[in-house]
Amino acid sequence: MTDDADAAAQTDTTAVSRRRMLGGSMLAGLAGTAVGAAGGGFAGYAAATASGGSAGGGDDTVDLRRSYPFYGQGHQGGIATLPQRYAVFMSFSLAAGAGRADLQALLARWSAAGAVLQQGKPVGTVQPQVDVQPPTDTGEAYGLSPASLTVTIGLGPSLFGDRFGLAARRPAVFTELPPLDGDNLDPRLHGGDLSVQACADDPQVCYHAVRNLARLGRNIVFPFWAVLGFGRASAGPGQLTPRNLLGFKDGTRNIASDAEYARFVWVDNSDQAWMNGGTYQVVRKIRMLLETWDVDRIGNQQKIFGRTKTEGAPLSGKAEFDTPNFSAKDADGNPLIDPLSHVGLAARENNDGIMIRRRSYNYTDGLDANGQLNAGLLFISYQKDPNDFIRLQNRLGAHDLLNEYIRHIGSAIFAIPPGPQEGHFIGQSLFS
Ligand code: HEM
Repeated sequence: MTDDADAAAQTDTTAVSRRRMLGGSMLAGLAGTAVGAAGGGFAGYAAATASGGSAGGGDDTVDLRRSYPFYGQGHQGGIATLPQRYAVFMSFSLAAGAGRADLQALLARWSAAGAVLQQGKPVGTVQPQVDVQPPTDTGEAYGLSPASLTVTIGLGPSLFGDRFGLAARRPAVFTELPPLDGDNLDPRLHGGDLSVQACADDPQVCYHAVRNLARLGRNIVFPFWAVLGFGRASAGPGQLTPRNLLGFKDGTRNIASDAEYARFVWVDNSDQAWMNGGTYQVVRKIRMLLETWDVDRIGNQQKIFGRTKTEGAPLSGKAEFDTPNFSAKDADGNPLIDPLSHVGLAARENNDGIMIRRRSYNYTDGLDANGQLNAGLLFISYQKDPNDFIRLQNRLGAHDLLNEYIRHIGSAIFAIPPGPQEGHFIGQSLFS
């Protein structure tokens, strides 16, 4: 059997609803009876399939068999895709000697590999016939399901210089991010020539994808900085709104409809035609000061966000999806939602209607040198104009009540070309 056929034969058929499994095992414990895992899983899958897609609509099901096509989608995956549970983001630096042809070869190689990986297949041979050959796939995802993997590839502003003959192909809006309010950047976590975002419902599948792309790019690119994300901090249609590490629901008000994607995310009228159908990716590694946050009063935590903690309702309403009313006041005439709260500053109502697609993950790097929890938010946003992010971040960075508890330590921006047709690679038209 070939590696590919073998992997396909071993495809995992697990469909697991976390809530149902939890509910099922708790009931089983109470009743003293065994609940068959397969039965619970199947029931979860059926329920998910039937539940359709209202925003935040009560299901939390993962079907590890699911895979997404890489080619012919117009846009790259991992942007409008229903957020998967895990992510690995890696920023790469080009080797000093790498030239234009190397860059093209790299993008072609990465695209071909992305297409194979998204099908849950190895990118090469895990166990070569000849003992003296190294494996060409590292093997840790061998036999695992596709797990909804998406591979998203980005190009840094540094590529658009004379070195690659691309200076004339830079879209006017695409430059390095300027210094922003709230920056506390570590130079080791700043920028990059290329980016790979791999998202999947299995962390091993994400890691395998990025690791193998790094291996395929050896001698052309080197890994620069990376973040491993978990607990998706944004939701898609039909998904429960997840929580960030501050314990608040994150992603309640986010870009969701095709009309909002068309208006705020997909580039459609660029001065550089190769970017149409693409978008711009902003990545911020935001550390949270969790020990300090954990001793803050609940009243203050809610004031900081302008939302309640358990329900996630705006302080002017009762339910999570109530529209915030920024002019509502309490009996003393004070606004129910503080204008300097996170949502008070970030909401479209207070920013000339601007929206960005947030697609963040929680991260942890364990403990820092002082034994403090080293964790936070891998903030990733997509927007058709980087200035929309810049404007929001400058407002938040200067005024947000949340700033006492967070530090923006990593930052980068990348152009995300449109998704390729079969037989083509990401960014190909940039070189023609
Ligand atoms: C650690 C950092 C951050 C945390 C913990 C955080 C958390 C949250 C939470 C809990 C909400 C309310 C629920 C929701 O509507 O999704 C929210 C909303 C939002 N956040 Fe953040 N956020 C962070 C950073 C940022 C950054 C850097 C930006 C952009 C520059 C941003 C932009 C927004 C926007 C646009 C909204 C929606 C506001 C609305 O329309 O009501 N956030 N965030």
